[in-house]
Amino acid sequence: MKITIFGTGYVGLVTGACLADVGHDVVCMDVDHGKIDKLRNGQIPIYEPGLESIVKHNAESGRLSFTTDPEQAVAHGLIQFIAVGTPPDEDGSADLQYVTAVARTIGQYMDDYRVVVDKSTVPVGTGDKVRDAVRAELDKRGLELDFDVVSNPEFLKEGAAITDFMKPDRIVVGTDSERAQELLRETYYPFNRNHDRMIFMDIRSAELTKYAANAMLATKISFMNEIANLSERLGADIEAVRRGIGSDPRIGYHFIYPGCGYGGSCFPKDVQALARTARGCDYDAKLLNAVEEVNLSQKHVLFDKVSHYFQGQLSGKVVALWGLAFKPNTDDMREASSRTLMESLWKAGASVQAFDPEAMGETQRIYGDQEGLTLCGTKEQALKGADVLVICTEWKEFRSPDFANIASALSEPVVFDGRNLYEPEMLDRHGLIYYAIGRGRNQFRMD
Ligand SMILES: NC(=O)c1ccc[n+]([C@@H]2O[C@H](COP(=O)([O-])OP(=O)(O)OC[C@H]3O[C@@H](n4cnc5c(N)ncnc54)[C@H](O)[C@@H]3O)[C@@H](O)[C@H]2O)c1
Repeated sequence: MKITIFGTGYVGLVTGACLADVGHDVVCMDVDHGKIDKLRNGQIPIYEPGLESIVKHNAESGRLSFTTDPEQAVAHGLIQFIAVGTPPDEDGSADLQYVTAVARTIGQYMDDYRVVVDKSTVPVGTGDKVRDAVRAELDKRGLELDFDVVSNPEFLKEGAAITDFMKPDRIVVGTDSERAQELLRETYYPFNRNHDRMIFMDIRSAELTKYAANAMLATKISFMNEIANLSERLGADIEAVRRGIGSDPRIGYHFIYPGCGYGGSCFPKDVQALARTARGCDYDAKLLNAVEEVNLSQKHVLFDKVSHYFQGQLSGKVVALWGLAFKPNTDDMREASSRTLMESLWKAGASVQAFDPEAMGETQRIYGDQEGLTLCGTKEQALKGADVLVICTEWKEFRSPDFANIASALSEPVVFDGRNLYEPEMLDRHGLIYYAIGRGRNQFRMD
């Protein structure tokens, strides 16, 4: 199958590489010339485990190529995937300018039947907008070509994107065309050998399925954070509570970890966009609004704890920070809790010595020569000369650190853990004071 992917970000590049890997002939197109140059030279612009070797292998075999030429991109694929960004607009709704720009490009250059597959996360009704944009360009050219529009939302997780794409839980396809349905079945046939993972539905339901999935996951996180905050005030331990409720199969252990708030390119913007969609149809989505509100305040919890510890006197304090990415196994720092913390610390006059296994380049790109920020080569280096340690991301390499070293390196033996990585007794044995999220009497009461 000849396939074109518009957008070579986390979703587009993974989709292109994985589809090429199962034998399809894939062209990836991006308007970012720098990115395409890098990819042509075998460099991967993002960190995603396993992606580099898949891209290299398939590029060498000729099944995966990269272009900035829209005409070539549209001419290539019978299937045209749209995998460009849908960032939040000023009012929180999804900004569709990149999606509709691709739709127009397809209309400008297609000269035969095409299936336009929207993989970007888009509000309900975008399928119609994409159809209108393609049609408008065809009308300008005086052409009456057949095409179909499909919604095929992507559920991959950054950090596990290749596995998620190769072994998906489900492949949701929204379409009103039998022809498109068959072509999508053929495209995804290699991923369905074990059992059929395809779920066909109408376009609007597919569009809403993606938002509903992310909103549900974000709800679980905000719910647990709310219970964690209650635990702190009530002298209970959220980790015991988590195990206690997770053992109920109706609740389950997945995705009920308390922490310092969710970030990333998806949950924050998707929850906001769905709430905005609700307002647009005169529905007040009280739960979605609350999920976002709880998360925004949860991102401040670590700063509040540090500030409380120093009785609001943060000027001149040095904070060692482990973990900058919004979650482990990625270098993505979009909406990361580490950013809320660092920005609050700087405002209060403290400085930060930061380390992340993958996101140092991204931190440098975002904050450049920010005063009060030292980028450290190792987690141990970040501790040197610091007053306290804060952990924002649950990278594996932070799970069993040398506690004696932490205790001796810090001027105050205090660890603020935004991801509940440790057993309080372990730190206690090393003379470390431990503040985690929702872990009972040892915590500060924020009220
Ligand atoms: N990142 C994730 O984990 C994830 C998971 C599921 C769904 N999604 C959704 O997938 C979409 C893409 O997300 P992402 O994280 O890959 O975005 P990204 O920002 O990493 O990449 C988007 C890419 O699209 C390119 N682009 C913009 N306009 C273009 C055009 N006209 N033609 C070709 N390329 C163009 C940009 O240059 C950029 O490289 C979003 O809607 C997102 O919500 C993301």
